[in-house]
Amino acid sequence: MTVLVTGASGNAGGAVVQALAAAGIAGRALVRKDIELPGGISAVYGDLNRPESFADALPGVSGIFLLSGYDRVEELLDNAVRAGVRKVVLLSSSSLDSADTGNAIAAYHHAAEEAVKASGLDWTFLRPNSFMSNTLRWLDQLRAGDVVRVQFPDVPISTIHPLDIAEVAVRAFTEDHAGVIHRLTGPVALTPPQQVEILGQAIGRPLTVYPMTRAEAHAELHATMPPQYAEAIESFFGDGIIDETSVNDTVEKVTGHPARTLPEWTSENAALFA
Ligand SMILES: NC(=O)c1ccc[n+]([C@@H]2O[C@H](COP(=O)([O-])OP(=O)(O)OC[C@H]3O[C@@H](n4cnc5c(N)ncnc54)[C@H](OP(=O)(O)O)[C@@H]3O)[C@@H](O)[C@H]2O)c1
Repeated sequence: MTVLVTGASGNAGGAVVQALAAAGIAGRALVRKDIELPGGISAVYGDLNRPESFADALPGVSGIFLLSGYDRVEELLDNAVRAGVRKVVLLSSSSLDSADTGNAIAAYHHAAEEAVKASGLDWTFLRPNSFMSNTLRWLDQLRAGDVVRVQFPDVPISTIHPLDIAEVAVRAFTEDHAGVIHRLTGPVALTPPQQVEILGQAIGRPLTVYPMTRAEAHAELHATMPPQYAEAIESFFGDGIIDETSVNDTVEKVTGHPARTLPEWTSENAALFA
């Protein structure tokens, strides 16, 4: 078996690369620049928005770990079918819990799921909660001082460790998960102030939380991303159109071990905050 991993330099794809290597499965990592890769994983250079840029890397690939939200995904999937690929594990999102697929983030995940379903390839969809690695969004603030301004301070989220997503993905490639949608959560729901406290313990700094008002969160979201994505995030957590608070046991059922905790993620990654 050989798996092509898209987003291989990122949080989720990088974890899939690690999990494949740990399982002794050959992989091809789609990258745009050189990165360090474990044994058994080779680099493929290409642009997800230009499927032709890596079509010649598909023969010999049996499965693709695919990110949502890129252009011309139908062409990528046609190339995959022609090359003899059998299976796609799509990284989708919890936003599809909501019936509102008009929301800009839910819309691109929905479009990717529909394209994969229409491709004729075997598929498994992973719909995770927010990732523990999103903790890195506070990095700039931590470089400037010990105060962390948090959006939606009262909304508890059971964030998930990217390696748990990755290990579920590997099971989906190696076992029969065809046509299965895995809704994935972390082990416990924590508010942003609780998450900051755990981070402070891991990095040995007493952090102070500034709980942003809804108006402040609105302004910050609109200052940092296109309006349709800012509106989507505000509706997820401000209006509560998705539930990332509930906890389920899918990670444990699929991988055989409990979902990893935020204290584990923060201590593994403490050096990034130094
Ligand atoms: N973060 C969350 O809480 C969350 C929750 C649910 C679902 N998701 C989904 O998970 C996805 C991945 O999240 P992440 O945290 O792993 O993201 P990330 O760390 O930002 O990684 C994104 C990856 O995509 C690659 N990439 C971006 N544009 C590309 C292009 N045109 N061609 C080839 N590669 C390209 C990046 O490569 P470079 O290094 O070259 O930029 C990087 O490897 C998100 O995009 C989202 O759809 C995320």
